[in-house]
Formats: sequence, structure tokens, C-alpha cells
Amino acid sequence: MERSFVMFKPDCLERRLLGRILARFEDKGLRLLAMKMLLVTPAMSRQHYAEHVSKPFYPALEQFITGAPVVATVMEGPEAVRVIREILGATSGLKAAAGTIRGDYSSSRQMNLVHASDSPESAAREIAIYFKADEVVAWDPTLACWLQAPDEKD
Ligand code: CMP
Repeated sequence: MERSFVMFKPDCLERRLLGRILARFEDKGLRLLAMKMLLVTPAMSRQHYAEHVSKPFYPALEQFITGAPVVATVMEGPEAVRVIREILGATSGLKAAAGTIRGDYSSSRQMNLVHASDSPESAAREIAIYFKADEVVAWDPTLACWLQAPDEKD
């Protein structure tokens, strides 16, 4: 089992796509462990996007990500980091494959609806920016036995 930090960005909420897009992750069988609506502050943005702060697009990214509410979540599942990024598709909505969230709903590099961690290490770092340890609920949904056979679990 792996955890990922998944954040529904301002464009997702402003465009009223949250319910439909969240349903894709639920439909896949990913477990929701934490969920919070908040306004990202410039300081949080700089922490979250530390690797992008010096890039030319960062000022616009910060303005976008702090400009309206986001919904931050923690999701868990087998190979969750890779699986979730494949559900999202390529960064740019124009390049993302049809059938992915970005391919179906976005035509932008910046307004690409959802952020997801790119490694388990990034997930741990990003989760700690948005959630206290006791806000992340480890649980075993009753349905889990219908999502994977016992011999598929590592
Ligand atoms: P995300 O997956 O959240 O990671 C970094 C974010 O920066 C990315 O999604 C986009 O929202 C944004 N981004 C990445 N590349 C560009 C770019 N070339 N121009 C504008 N925004 C970008």
C-alpha cells in the first residue's frame, strides 16, 4: 500500500468539477484517508512547489493556486503514486491522453485541475505541509476484499 497527496486545484472547484473528478478516484478503488478544503497561502505554495519557485512560471502558479479554495486529500492504494498520476495524465491538458482527467477536462498547463505527488518521498513531504498526523485516518474499507485478491497483496 502506498499513499499520495492529491490536491483538487482552484480551477477544479471554480468549474464545479470536484464531485465528478473525485468520483474517478473512488471508482478506481483508492481509499480516502484525509480531506480538507482550504486557501493555500503564498508561504504554503512556496513550500509545496519548492522545486518550481525559481522557474519563470512560478509567480503565475502561486497567484493561481492561492486565488481560490483547494481541496487537499490523502489517498491510499496499491502503487498509488503511479496509478494516480496515470489517472491524471500529462501535465498539460493539451498533451494529456483522452480518458485521463486532464485529457478530458483541461486545455492548460497551469490549470490542470489536480496535483498528485510524483514519488512516495514527495507524498510524505507534501502530506506534512497540509495535514497534521492525527488528521490522516488509516482505515480498512469493508469493500477492500472486492478490490484485490489476497495473493495480490505484497
Ligand atoms: P502540478 O502537478 O501541480 O505541479 C507543478 C505545477 O506547475 C503544475 O501542476 C502546473 O499547474 C504548473 N506548471 C507546470 N509547468 C508549467 C508551465 N510550463 N507553465 C505554467 N504552469 C506550469
